[in-house]
Amino acid sequence: MENMNLNTNINVMPRIGEKAPEFTAVTTQGTIHFPSDFKGKWKILFSHPADFTPVCTSEFMTFAKMAQEFEALNCQLVGLSVDGIHSHIAWLRTIKEKIDFRGMSNMEVKFPLIEDIKMEVAGKYGMIQPGESTTSAVRAVFFIDQNDVIRTIMYYPLSLGRNFEEIKRVLVGLQTCDAFGVALPADWKPGVEVIVPPAGSCGVAKERMENKSGELHCYDWFFCTRDLAKEEVEEKLNVKF
Ligand code: BEZ
Repeated sequence: MENMNLNTNINVMPRIGEKAPEFTAVTTQGTIHFPSDFKGKWKILFSHPADFTPVCTSEFMTFAKMAQEFEALNCQLVGLSVDGIHSHIAWLRTIKEKIDFRGMSNMEVKFPLIEDIKMEVAGKYGMIQPGESTTSAVRAVFFIDQNDVIRTIMYYPLSLGRNFEEIKRVLVGLQTCDAFGVALPADWKPGVEVIVPPAGSCGVAKERMENKSGELHCYDWFFCTRDLAKEEVEEKLNVKF
């Protein structure tokens, strides 16, 4: 009965634009102080329902395979479930030693995985959603920037594995918005046109419609785009896609 001492404060839902709630936790890589241990980095804090379950195993192997891509984007991955540390260690060892899935084998999870038996961290991050489960976390993903501000939140149910290319796309998108002062249209990926200026700051409609420099494509006064080459994004973010 690992979850006997339940955290009753599970109704907190952190929001985009707020500072990431702080915590200290035991992980598979030692004790961490979050977010202060990861100063200057982006952080992806994500939860999974339970160790030794199939969807979670497929997700962890995929994240482990892509770990270097997130590292290259200056992003620290931190996982969490309400299991204990011994369960985490045994599960990650099983993944490394036994599981061969979609050509992924010998996958070593090197990022910290938090033990949260008392649901203290899960409670702070709105990861316990009783309509879905009272005894495990839903699949949450928090994107937290270098100033420790929450920038995007995803919540998925127990039965649906996440799309890790989408998780990477969101991280690259957030970094691109910051680096170039632009907004990004539907289905954006590096190399696709960007929106200028970001929504909500359209104070120069006439000049934009006149488009003297010729670099804008305006669909109407409120909707202008410009090209942004993949190579420019790569150079600014210091990565290769
Ligand atoms: C899974 O990861 O396979 C899973 C976990 C909890 C409930 C259902 C599925």
